[in-house]
Amino acid sequence: MKISIYPGSFDPITYGHIDIIERASKISDKLVVAVLNNPEKKSLFTADERCEMIKDAIKQYENIEVESFDGLLVDYAKKKNASIIIRGLRAVTDFEYELQLAQTNRQIYDKVDTVFLLTNIQYSYLSSSIVKQVAKENGDISKFVTQFVAKKLLEKNGNN
Ligand code: PNS
Repeated sequence: MKISIYPGSFDPITYGHIDIIERASKISDKLVVAVLNNPEKKSLFTADERCEMIKDAIKQYENIEVESFDGLLVDYAKKKNASIIIRGLRAVTDFEYELQLAQTNRQIYDKVDTVFLLTNIQYSYLSSSIVKQVAKENGDISKFVTQFVAKKLLEKNGNN
């Protein structure tokens, strides 16, 4: 059984992430969307909130599990019996960091390979940080995130 992990901060999940999740689920028997729970990394949403938003977005898929993790990604991959790490590449600017991440992970644990999926060109400009900035200024984020996420962002910004 091919188990893949798609790790990230997902603070919050965007349509760019959802596109990667949909495609990754098709090339995996099981896909685990793994939300980094790192108290040292400042995030707008708690890990539980981020998981809840992802679960809402992918509820029609049967082979996807959503969970938070802490510590090293490769340790989590081992625990989940995953042999593939999925990462999305938006542009060449992502590449250097992603290369470093993938090579480091493989040095620590050589039974895992990173597979890169190119982000749909429609979402190549999109990031969670940009969405948070637009939401903070009450801009229209309906093209970037699901209605559920948009509602959660409004609540965070005190506009519920
Ligand atoms: O969405 P992000 O913030 O780009 O995701 C980064 C993530 C979660 C994949 C990365 O920070 C990670 O794997 N963190 C877990 C700690 C770890 O394993 N670090 C060693 C590899 S550099």
